[in-house]
Amino acid sequence: MTANLLSVEHFTLRRRGVAVLDDVTIQLPAGQTLALIGESGAGKSTLAFAALGLLRPPEVGLEGRLMVGDIDVASAPEGELRALRGRRIGLIFQDASAALNPCFTVLAHLSEPLRRHRRLSRAACRARAIELLESVGIADPQARLAAFPHELSGGMQQRVMIAIALACEPELLIADEPTSALDVTIQAQIMVLILERVRALGASAIFVLHDLALAAQVADRVAVMYAGQIVEEGPAAEVLNHPQHPYTRGLRASAIEFGAERLEPIPGVVPPLSDMPGGCRFAPRCKLATTECGVGRPPRVERGASSIACWHA
Ligand SMILES: Nc1ncnc2c1ncn2[C@@H]1O[C@H](COP(=O)(O)OP(=O)(O)O)[C@@H](O)[C@H]1O
Ligand SMILES: [Mg+2]
Repeated sequence: MTANLLSVEHFTLRRRGVAVLDDVTIQLPAGQTLALIGESGAGKSTLAFAALGLLRPPEVGLEGRLMVGDIDVASAPEGELRALRGRRIGLIFQDASAALNPCFTVLAHLSEPLRRHRRLSRAACRARAIELLESVGIADPQARLAAFPHELSGGMQQRVMIAIALACEPELLIADEPTSALDVTIQAQIMVLILERVRALGASAIFVLHDLALAAQVADRVAVMYAGQIVEEGPAAEVLNHPQHPYTRGLRASAIEFGAERLEPIPGVVPPLSDMPGGCRFAPRCKLATTECGVGRPPRVERGASSIACWHA
């Protein structure tokens, strides 16, 4: 049996009483990649931040369990979480220009995790920094060490952030929309680079994406989120090619990359979290909805290797 690197079980996260994540269950085996997809506001980033232990009581209310390896993120001491972040989990954000500190050089950024977690000397940091920049495809790395973030292009900044995230060879990489701030022409390059580095380390990865075609290329598993709930989860090929939940089907029909002849947007909008329908949260927008959908929480149905939360699956 493969150990799960990430194990989320009936995990609910409330902000001021409102369930931003509602009864989320996901297992990610070590060495696999997961794409979290869904419309903006679905709770994807919230789940990513919760996995880093950045959202904890009393700021938010937590129920259920969220384990990274053997660490229970909700109850672990803060010191243990600090060791988790940057060392066992690497993080890549959407916008490198906001994540990098304008006052620090590339070398200073790369040295920080190496000194903190690996206790490397100044000379060793420098050598490792050059190696890391090379590994993310930065030409003439020695010359780049002294550069400040504003002296680098957007794509180059993103490569630096990838190098920082991978500096301590994490077991898990969380990449939250890692390419959506970049030009389309370099998005694929950067995605391929991240995937290649993750595979080289034998690490697991969570990619937060809203692009189904990208998910198909990088993920072993896909979890589809809608309004704080996982509506469908399973092997990428199954979920993306044979979606069973009406929401996943709707996403696919509205995705140009999947060769839809006529784009069919999903009608309506996500209701505010403070005013969610009692039963299935997608019911108000669903073509298949019947009265029971408005009443009871949909059961989780296992279909093949996927699970779907729907009364009509
Ligand atoms: N700091 C915050 N305070 C209150 N509500 C928040 C905060 N951050 C996010 N939210 C709300 O939580 C929900 C999920 O947001 P988020 O996780 O960012 O979604 P996604 O990443 O899928 O776009 C949204 O309704 C958002 O408005
Ligand atoms: Mg987000």
